[in-house]
Amino acid sequence: MNIAPQYSEEDVRLAIEQGPITAAYKAAPDQVIRELNQLRATEIASYLQYKQHAYMAVSMLSPGIKSDFEAHAAVELDHADRLAKRIQQLGGVPIYNPAELASQAADMGVHPEQGATLWDMVIENLLTERQQIVAYTTLIRELGDRDFITELIAS
Ligand SMILES: [Fe+2]
Repeated sequence: MNIAPQYSEEDVRLAIEQGPITAAYKAAPDQVIRELNQLRATEIASYLQYKQHAYMAVSMLSPGIKSDFEAHAAVELDHADRLAKRIQQLGGVPIYNPAELASQAADMGVHPEQGATLWDMVIENLLTERQQIVAYTTLIRELGDRDFITELIAS
């Protein structure tokens, strides 16, 4: 192993064991991982809801709204991916069990719904987005200046 001389064996050990968690990191990784997993569960629930609405909008002869729902679904999936990457960076594991995902999303007040009309679906999506805004705002406020990277991802 050819490590530059300014690094001690302790530096190397910490780098291997802790990755991006350095002395400058002031949050509690386990708690942040838990909260990121909850947020991610709401993103996946929201993704499923938008996709379902896109499927159903076809039969209602609304191609414009269908593509709008699909675009939102893609955005939600991207959000879920970003959260998963941060969870992994912090040493956690993104939840992938569907039942656990549903339970975590429900704990945050997010339940995928499919209303009878396009109007109902639009309102359901608006309500879900608002629940997520509350969850993200709470996390950002809670983190303060203790985890800038997570804060950046959540912003
Ligand atoms: Fe999102």
